[in-house]
Amino acid sequence: MSLLKARSRIAAARAITVLTGAGISADSGVPTFRGTEGLWRSYRAEDLATPEAFERDPRLVWEWYNWRRELIATKQPNPAHLALAELERSRPDTFWLITQNVDGLHRAAGSRRLSEIHGNIWKVRCTGCAVITDNHEVPLPLLPMCLQCGELLRPHIVWFGESLREEDLRHCDEALRDCDLLLVIGTSGVVYPAAGFASIAKEAGALVIEINLETTPQSDLVDLSLQGRAKDLVPLLL
Ligand code: OAD
Repeated sequence: MSLLKARSRIAAARAITVLTGAGISADSGVPTFRGTEGLWRSYRAEDLATPEAFERDPRLVWEWYNWRRELIATKQPNPAHLALAELERSRPDTFWLITQNVDGLHRAAGSRRLSEIHGNIWKVRCTGCAVITDNHEVPLPLLPMCLQCGELLRPHIVWFGESLREEDLRHCDEALRDCDLLLVIGTSGVVYPAAGFASIAKEAGALVIEINLETTPQSDLVDLSLQGRAKDLVPLLL
């Protein structure tokens, strides 16, 4: 399928769902997780992004999230985030965005119909009373405490070994089965359940278009796999 044909299929689509990963924010300067300069090359996920790591050494985990908050606070949405927000405005009732990113850049770009399935780095959750609050303090104290109950706060992030929220899973499932077009942008497609989303949509009859710098384990099953930067290809497609 040519780019032109893909553009006309997108324009004619009844319902569009989009899945994004770290690659869309790479063009804003936010590091990805895998690949030559990915975070998991320099850091071990099991030391920083698991409930066990937080129990063992909450200071270390918070130090890492504080560093990432400081870095992300300096970044802006890029043309790919903005094009998706624009697409949502043009068809608010037939659009859903699923992101694995926790950086908040889709919201900053104006997206509202979205599921942040791995959480949001700008939210904290109390380990005692479970209250979730927005928090943009940079840097946070090394061991931030809940103002309501005094217990330790944790990042509102879904760590390895934790389950996605039921409500998000339900929303995603609906959005994947109802859409007739799925765009998969900047994800390595190795972390489940998101890694299975393209095949759910495909099996339900959707056309699936992937945008990535390189091929992924999903490239063979999608209808069109476009190689290039999200910030160039997404606005071009939309
Ligand atoms: P990854 O870092 O695994 O993959 C990023 C993908 O983006 C790769 O396939 C790159 O080829 C692609 N990419 C890089 N730059 C790009 C660009 N400018 N334009 C288009 N594509 C580009 O990130 P995710 O797939 O999002 O979870 O990772 C999934 C989850 O694993 C993350 O949400 C995170 C991580 O561990 C948690 O932290 C819970």
